[in-house]
Amino acid sequence: MVPLKRRKLVPTGAVNTGTGPVRTKFPHVVLFLLERKMGTSRRAFLSQLGRRKGFQVEQVLSESVTHIISESNTREEVTAWLDFQGGGQADVLLLDISWYTDSIRAGHPVDILDRHRLQDLQGSGPEVAVFSVPSYACQRRTTLENHNTVLTDALSLLAENAELSDEDGRGVAFRRAAAVLKALPSAVMSISQLSGLPCLGEHSLRVIKDIWENGASSEVESTKVSERFKALKVLTGIFGVGAKTADRWIREGIHDLHQLQNSGQTLNRAQQAGLQHYDDINQPVTKAEACAIEEIVEKAVSSVLPGAQIILTGGFRRGKQTGHDVDFLITHPEEGREVGLMPKVVSWLEAQGFLLYQKTTRNSYLESKADGPGRPPSNMDRFERCLSIFKLPKMEKQGAKDSQNVTENCLQANQKSDEPECPEAAPDRRWRAVRVDLVVSPISQFAFALLGWTGSKLFERELRRWARYEKGMSLSSHALYDNNQRKYLRASSEEEIFAHLGLEFIPPSERNA
Ligand code: UTP
Ligand code: MN
Repeated sequence: MVPLKRRKLVPTGAVNTGTGPVRTKFPHVVLFLLERKMGTSRRAFLSQLGRRKGFQVEQVLSESVTHIISESNTREEVTAWLDFQGGGQADVLLLDISWYTDSIRAGHPVDILDRHRLQDLQGSGPEVAVFSVPSYACQRRTTLENHNTVLTDALSLLAENAELSDEDGRGVAFRRAAAVLKALPSAVMSISQLSGLPCLGEHSLRVIKDIWENGASSEVESTKVSERFKALKVLTGIFGVGAKTADRWIREGIHDLHQLQNSGQTLNRAQQAGLQHYDDINQPVTKAEACAIEEIVEKAVSSVLPGAQIILTGGFRRGKQTGHDVDFLITHPEEGREVGLMPKVVSWLEAQGFLLYQKTTRNSYLESKADGPGRPPSNMDRFERCLSIFKLPKMEKQGAKDSQNVTENCLQANQKSDEPECPEAAPDRRWRAVRVDLVVSPISQFAFALLGWTGSKLFERELRRWARYEKGMSLSSHALYDNNQRKYLRASSEEEIFAHLGLEFIPPSERNA
């Protein structure tokens, strides 16, 4: 506060309320209610109320005033007003009306809490409290209800840009910062609330402040419109194209699909399929479509190995309504029965015309060798896995009567269709392409696979970081290894894995970090 001038002040005692003698119960507390924003009549009413309870409420500001009470004003506004008046006593308290009403209710001046003090920023109310969250995302419950989307969208975009630019460290830092804000129970009302939060580095805080003060972050805005970022997004939108390939193409002057097609670049089989089904694959998959595919995969699995089980994992298991793909985990309750299952499932799907593209990789996980004690499990899974593009018949005219019979309808639709040269161009096309990931796990690894494939990606990363640095353990989608006891810790459910890790169980719907 600016040094106070003591000139124009009206001496105490010179004015009183004019309502007769005031019996002051609390001689060290002299109040002044600011009329600004409160209004004349409310101020008169509240002053009267306080006096009846024995508070000394002055009509005019004087040097004896110890507490200035205001309503809906920021600290800056009251300070400015006070300076204009020529100041008050140097250590006068600037308090919100809530302190006054609390005190009247209590019948005495109550202790001053943080929420009673005027806040520094415009728009901040009396309820503003400092947020606190644990530092690992796997210690927090993050639902899909995000109260800070403006901030998290901005940080996620910078994370994406860093990842596409081969700057993974920076990407993770932005992802962690965004995840912390996603876990907050309400919208951020004031920057001061963020002071105690973990994972908010200097860079992320700068972005947040920029948005706070200017409505947008200049870094985010310039990234969005940058030619490089736009080209990276378009090119990595092709299934089978990663950041490295996209970067090479951009350096060769390829920025969009048209330039790619005219460039004479050789594309591998995945990329050709990706280019062919570009629009479909870049359109979000709905929950209804995921359920229709689940029914088809269920039918395939039970046809080739009765008793085998499938479960929808990934974002849909976390309760998301849309996704970029559909993820399934397949197992059989009898260890070993799952061996050789994937090629059979794929053949069944292929024979029924459900696959536009598929690439199966064999299970290469061997506990005693690569992933044993000598070497920590890598982040790469070694499950038998099928990366595919599904041909999902459109689910038009499916009334309640037909809805149990998705598979039959799909089969008919697929049998009827004649493949044109450029399938996506057909105007009356009755199907769409959807990315589907199938993973087969032996039952002994099922809990780890389920935990690992449910995500979110950051949640998984944080689980592994927690395991390593807080528990001296190595977690993968296959197993949990205790480096101190030098042994594997078995688990047949996700709950057991959380327990081994000394973490409270977090259900899938709260893993949306
Ligand atoms: P996704 O990339 O499908 O993410 O991976 P998602 O959460 O389902 O998001 P959308 O909705 O499709 O966009 C699902 C989970 O599978 C794991 C990831 O870590 C993530 O937790 N995963 C994915 C692997 O373990 N290995 C992989 O090669 C790919
Ligand atoms: Mn997914």
